[in-house]
Amino acid sequence: MNNPFDFELSLSFPINRPRRMRASRSIRNAVARTRLGLDDLIAPIFIDGNINGVMEIESMPGVYRYSIDKGIRKVSDYLEQGLDKILIFGIPRYKDEVGSEAYDRDGVVQRFIRELRGTLGDRILIFTDVCMCQYTSHGHCGVISYVDDKYKIQNDKSIELMGRIALSHAEAGADFVAPSSMMDGVVYAIRRKLDEEGYVDVGIMSYSVKYASNFYAPFREAAESSPEFGDRRSYQMDPRISEEAIKEALMDIQEGADILMVKPALAYLDIIKIIRSSFGYFPLAAYNVSGEYSMVKAASKLNWIDEKKVIIEILFSIKRAGADLIITYHAPEIAQWIKEDHELFQW
Ligand code: PBG
Repeated sequence: MNNPFDFELSLSFPINRPRRMRASRSIRNAVARTRLGLDDLIAPIFIDGNINGVMEIESMPGVYRYSIDKGIRKVSDYLEQGLDKILIFGIPRYKDEVGSEAYDRDGVVQRFIRELRGTLGDRILIFTDVCMCQYTSHGHCGVISYVDDKYKIQNDKSIELMGRIALSHAEAGADFVAPSSMMDGVVYAIRRKLDEEGYVDVGIMSYSVKYASNFYAPFREAAESSPEFGDRRSYQMDPRISEEAIKEALMDIQEGADILMVKPALAYLDIIKIIRSSFGYFPLAAYNVSGEYSMVKAASKLNWIDEKKVIIEILFSIKRAGADLIITYHAPEIAQWIKEDHELFQW
């Protein structure tokens, strides 16, 4: 016993065997950390002021546009499934240069919120997208002026209108407004407007970190919101930079945001992680956008992937990166699987 380290010699190699922690379903699930539940999900919903009934969106199988009455019925179904959070997008009846249906008290979104509140009361948590691109004739997310054949987005005029849009949603009964234009100062403009008008309890979920992404294409078909000319690169962020995300999120915190958001989610998991670690004290949402949804649906139609398992793996990755909430078109099907097929969420 003169060598105090003798005991090491009796151990066989390797000493560390991580596989012990993967040996059975029970131990794997015990240490999994990342969980997915109904409370994490926000279901987007498209309400169309021009239709009577329901219309499937071709590039997003399983996702529909609803007339107001059909939308109410859909949200009641969601509640029954245990989904209690929706994010509303409107397809307006008319478009003009300044997107005025966006702040029309009788606009499609405002009427839908009012009816929803009237029918379902406080059981549903209502988030609304605050933007102008579906509502403007040119399809940009702000007011435009033209100088020498060149167009320019008028930032400060646009955020003033965003304040009016948010106010009209708050008056109708929204719980949270979600500005998605990436205009500078939009969160502050909305916060100020809401407070001035007495809506201090209406919160802001800001699309704080939103990239000029090609993954939005199916959504633009769904919402008829493609820009008529140019692109969104002068307001949405450059996918090649990550540090700017911290600046954008910090600005939104200072301007009065309640929930931050990163969008898209899947190609931007690193950004979710950065925001989570920089502002761990702030609730964080991630938007699993239309293109991410459509790619999975297309591949599974071809039988190239196991659809359910891939969807769940994607959502796990978004949660693991640090999101508290996930806005996803998969929400209704996931709610169903949670109820019917608990095993799917195990490993
Ligand atoms: C509106 C808006 C867009 C999305 C959400 N809000 C489109 C865009 O910025 O062009 C995209 C959502 C999705 O792709 O699922 N500005």
